[in-house]
Amino acid sequence: MPQRFEHDVLIIGSGAAGLSLALHLPDHYRIAVLTKANVNEGSTYWAQGGMAAVLHNRDTVDSHVEDTIRAGAGLCRREAVEFTVRNSRRCVEWLVEQGVDFDLRDDAGVPKEREFHLTMEGGHSHRRIIHSADRTGRAISEVLTERAQQSANIEMFTHRVAVDLVVHNGHCSGAYILDEKHERVDLFQARAVVIATGGASKAYLYTSNPDGASGDGIAMAWRAGCRVANLEFNQFHPTCLYHPKAKSFLVTEAVRGEGGKLLLPDGTAFMQHFDDRGELAPRDIVARAIDHEMKRLGADCVFLDISHKPRAFLESHFPTIMERCSQLGIDMATEPIPVVPAAHYTCGGIVVDTHGRTDVKGLYAIGESSCTGLHGANRMASNSLLECIVYAESAAKHIDTTLADAPTLTEMPVWDESQVTDSDEDVVISHNWDELRRFMWDYVGIVRTNKRLQRAQHRAQLLQAEIAEYYSNYKVSNDLLELRNLAMVAELMIQCALQRKESRGLHFTLDYPDLLDEANDTILTPENSTLQTAD
Ligand code: FUM
Repeated sequence: MPQRFEHDVLIIGSGAAGLSLALHLPDHYRIAVLTKANVNEGSTYWAQGGMAAVLHNRDTVDSHVEDTIRAGAGLCRREAVEFTVRNSRRCVEWLVEQGVDFDLRDDAGVPKEREFHLTMEGGHSHRRIIHSADRTGRAISEVLTERAQQSANIEMFTHRVAVDLVVHNGHCSGAYILDEKHERVDLFQARAVVIATGGASKAYLYTSNPDGASGDGIAMAWRAGCRVANLEFNQFHPTCLYHPKAKSFLVTEAVRGEGGKLLLPDGTAFMQHFDDRGELAPRDIVARAIDHEMKRLGADCVFLDISHKPRAFLESHFPTIMERCSQLGIDMATEPIPVVPAAHYTCGGIVVDTHGRTDVKGLYAIGESSCTGLHGANRMASNSLLECIVYAESAAKHIDTTLADAPTLTEMPVWDESQVTDSDEDVVISHNWDELRRFMWDYVGIVRTNKRLQRAQHRAQLLQAEIAEYYSNYKVSNDLLELRNLAMVAELMIQCALQRKESRGLHFTLDYPDLLDEANDTILTPENSTLQTAD
């Protein structure tokens, strides 16, 4: 029997954004935090590099703002960038108060008190990435999870997959949620609902992201009538480990920040031919350069070499990468690491304001699922954990000051699956998954053309039609829900890409290689899109 749950605030997603928001809310609220799998399995947990913040006395807010805007290729919203960067130091302090251990600078092996080790990444003109070796996301995720688990007012629900939002009289008042263990769809009602479900890089065959990055929140918000923007800007991380057994394994940009060089298979460095900043050019430039060289040479990968650094340095800064490489027979202290670009971050998403408010009352979106205007056409490295924490705090404040005025909850109908037949066709779902991710990689990847995008659109539309049929006949499952969401977000990405008649930031098309004078967001609304909100 489906269950009904009632809370003050429902948070869908348990990464840095969702958990920070839960912890920022006063403890008299009853809060539900839902996670698709187990806690500590989402994108936050796997983030290696770190969090950008203005912490060094030679660095300034203006410099971080200008670097972000430059990396964003003219499309960032200045207000969002300034808001985020101005709050960066305070957010670091909040994380430290929660118990996150960031690496300290050390002098000859002796750590300096409260002086953080700051590393460097592409696009930044100063060392400003605070980190916890190469497992920063894990350090943040574990601490925030523990704090949330210790809070009596926060209830954590695992293996809960959101199906759809409930919108009643224009106000979001909950969501239908699949309880995977009990194989039933429950109704979670709340006076404020927060989407913190992450991005959609699983739309691509090769990705650095964990399995859950299927754009669920973006698709649900779109179906609920929210605008989405700038989805053509999916970031490809230049360096993921290339090895048949290295599924989704990132090699942090901090390796290049500490002097790592990109090499062709014959050992020649090449980045200086593409950009004066070499290995530390923004990611779109580095990923395109690698893609160009791999295609030119017919090579399967390029190489990242940091073997000039002492083994002890590599062991203390990059223990996770060293361990993974060594499991695969690669010793990064003596040989270069084979790497390829892979889909990494969804820069666009649900349109929100500085409080994380969407177009639907009572519905907020924070973190990678949202489009705040911070990233523009290309996210600068390590700005995203920062965005999660800053917007979580801001949304929590807004929820706290407005929740008293939210409508009282009307009891909504429970989920009805009495008409559905069990699926005996799992093979169709897995086939559609493969097909989607393959055509997105081939046609909507690092280099695009009109023809490729049109082909992709045609296929995405066929898939959507097939999925709509399963969805109305089959019992919902995680695979079906993720496929339905990902196919919808893929089509939104393609529509955004087709609308942009220029090459800007992460969107590069051979049909419009130039930059237009005016920078405009691509905003899809239920009215201007060929894709309907309800399926
Ligand atoms: O390279 C990295 O460690 C990734 C950082 C980021 O995506 O912000």
